[in-house]
Amino acid sequence: MTMVQESIVKDIALAPNGHLKIDWVKEHMPVLNRIRERFEQEKPFAGKKVAISLHLEAKTAYLAKVIQAGGAEVTITGSNPLSTQDDVCAALVEDGIRVFAKYNPSEEEYKELLIKTLETRPDFLIDDGGDLVTLLHGERRDLLENVKGGAEETTTGILRLRALEKEEKLEFPMVAVNDAYCKYLFDNRYGTGQSVFDGINRTTNLVVAGKTVVVAGYGWCGKGVAMRAKGLGAKVIVTEIDAIKAVEAYMDGFEVMSMDEAAKLGDYFVTVTGNRDIIRKAHFESMKDGAILSNAGHFDVEVNKVELNDISTSKRVVRKDIEEFVLQDGRKIYLLAEGRLVNLAAGDGHPAEIMDMTFALQAVGLEYVSKNYEAIGKKVLNVPYELDETVARYKLEALGKNIDKLTPEQKEYLESWVE
Ligand SMILES: NC(=O)c1ccc[n+]([C@@H]2O[C@H](COP(=O)([O-])OP(=O)(O)OC[C@H]3O[C@@H](n4cnc5c(N)ncnc54)[C@H](O)[C@@H]3O)[C@@H](O)[C@H]2O)c1
Repeated sequence: MTMVQESIVKDIALAPNGHLKIDWVKEHMPVLNRIRERFEQEKPFAGKKVAISLHLEAKTAYLAKVIQAGGAEVTITGSNPLSTQDDVCAALVEDGIRVFAKYNPSEEEYKELLIKTLETRPDFLIDDGGDLVTLLHGERRDLLENVKGGAEETTTGILRLRALEKEEKLEFPMVAVNDAYCKYLFDNRYGTGQSVFDGINRTTNLVVAGKTVVVAGYGWCGKGVAMRAKGLGAKVIVTEIDAIKAVEAYMDGFEVMSMDEAAKLGDYFVTVTGNRDIIRKAHFESMKDGAILSNAGHFDVEVNKVELNDISTSKRVVRKDIEEFVLQDGRKIYLLAEGRLVNLAAGDGHPAEIMDMTFALQAVGLEYVSKNYEAIGKKVLNVPYELDETVARYKLEALGKNIDKLTPEQKEYLESWVE
């Protein structure tokens, strides 16, 4: 066991519980386990440094160990102040991974931990939401030198990368892991759908059945949240800005209306748009007494906390991860997990079986960049289809499911233009 001394974690004595958490998820990540076995043989990252910024809980920790098994020297930090689990961080330090992370650092500390991670001069990055990449392209360009490429986990990070690419300012290739089928179809939809209600339910300990849940955004995450809300017995309202997505939500059986209208009706609100100010002053002012607000989008800007604060006469924490805001007329509005990703800040994130596929894509995506970064050039690229398909095939094999193969006649039929 190698002890990396320069790590910053809350308390190394928490490690035993962290190891238990990592061992549990490992048992439920068969796709990643297969990749780990290959990495142990082939060592694709031998002699390379990899810096990771991800929601630092057990599944992420296991990904870090898989990258390490591939020969890399790994440094890891969080990607949100409230999603880091201190016991998991301690366990990783014992496993020889450098960790710069702790639960609930101040904004300055959070940034300092990201910078320390970059100061290890990584060859490759795994980013979630673009914090590492943004620092490298902004105030810490001095740390760019060694970076050859990386992989981005989420929709919001990819938006930032594509903006850099469009302005021809992107300095190295980044794989858009989120845009792979085996990511958004399962992680964004089923992962977010389930884990958002895990976070809300364990935090509030209230019933969802019979209540009205307003879901803002009917993208891949929003579809999952709306589906699970319906499954829990809620009446579901969807708000959108995209006419096609709005029609889709309507045909899927949900009420569709503007937030101005929905604000008056919701008992629970979940924002998941990747955009800002989805719920703002005018909406708070028309809400029912006791409305519960939460966000599952990447940044804590979807519920306008500043305006909520401004129009409140008092606020207090009434339960872990629940803040109560009292408005002038005495109505109370509750905000979960400070408006940060409710499934990660007030829960354990997506189920392990879901992150198995996502993190398998991260591992093979990073391997692909490490082998091909020169040829790829400074751009955002999709996970090659063969790698995406391999992850799905491994998943089916782990599930013990068979699928059919095209017969030669079927293949010819599909490829021909004559009847
Ligand atoms: N909580 C999690 O674990 C988790 C997991 C994956 C992604 N995310 C994050 O969730 C967010 C959404 O991801 P996605 O993959 O669903 O993106 P998406 O692009 O598929 O969907 C976003 C939807 O929001 C809609 N939208 C934008 N502005 C809106 C507004 N003002 N009002 C209503 N709708 C609006 C868009 O039209 C779009 O349909 C991103 O920030 C992403 O990074 C979170």
